[in-house]
Amino acid sequence: MTPAPRVRARRRRRRSALVVAPLLVVAAGVSAFVALENLAPPTVRSFVLSVGASVLGEPSDAPTSPGPGTPAPSPTSEAPTSTVTPTDTPADEPTVDAPDPTPSGRGYDVDSPDSITVVVNKLRPLSPLEHRPDDLVPVSGAAVTMRAEAADALAELRADAQEDGNPMAVHSAMRSYQEQRTTFEGWVAQMGREQAERSSARAGFSEHQTGLAVDVVATGDTCGVMSCFGETDASAWLVANAHRYGFVVRFDGAHEEWTGYKAEPWHLRYVGVEVATAVHEAGGPSLEEYFGLEPAPDYAD
Ligand code: DAL
Ligand code: ZN
Repeated sequence: MTPAPRVRARRRRRRSALVVAPLLVVAAGVSAFVALENLAPPTVRSFVLSVGASVLGEPSDAPTSPGPGTPAPSPTSEAPTSTVTPTDTPADEPTVDAPDPTPSGRGYDVDSPDSITVVVNKLRPLSPLEHRPDDLVPVSGAAVTMRAEAADALAELRADAQEDGNPMAVHSAMRSYQEQRTTFEGWVAQMGREQAERSSARAGFSEHQTGLAVDVVATGDTCGVMSCFGETDASAWLVANAHRYGFVVRFDGAHEEWTGYKAEPWHLRYVGVEVATAVHEAGGPSLEEYFGLEPAPDYAD
């Protein structure tokens, strides 16, 4: 059925209103924006536009732009701090032992019985046990022998010591395996084994058997025997100068836990000028310490 003319007129007015109303809203917005653009300060314009955007359906989780004065991050900015600390060494990387600070022997031959730098002590016997050097020569002014190189060095030392007012005589030098055995047993009989072990070496374990050791006494002093030698000027001269001739005072009394022997300030051991000087400059460690060897306070058996 066809609607009446008044009803059609009402419907036309409603349709017109539906079309015109949104146009009026948009027009009002544009007018307001133009007015704001002309009248309001920039901050007010931003607020109005922002609220308007929300009202119109702008996603609420959109990233907010930095405010005025906030610098945008640049590619060179510091990276965010990670809460995971990377380990320095991956777990499966093989570990390496720290190097030994003193390589055994420091490159010198401390094992061969004929080496100038052989180290003999209660844990390092001569090998073979009855070893005897084949370059022994008489020691000047004494009825004893030493290896040629050591004998020459000792002659120089004694000459210079005498020039400085500290003449010295030689009491003992090279001792064979059999002579050392007799010497050691003599001390055991005299003072008992325990004390003898701190003063005399068993056969095969003595530096005297290398032909590189010598016992001296002071002849320009009231003390003419070994027991008081440590109190003489000659002893002090040796401590200060023996290295210049290749000798060390082997048993100084401060390293018995390394050497196994009490003080013997009269017992010199030839090791060559290079090593003797290095030991002197290092403050006088035992040869065991200097060469990075184990301490030898006692025999293995
Ligand atoms: N008196 C020293 C330790 C020796 O017998 O070799
Ligand atoms: Zn000696």
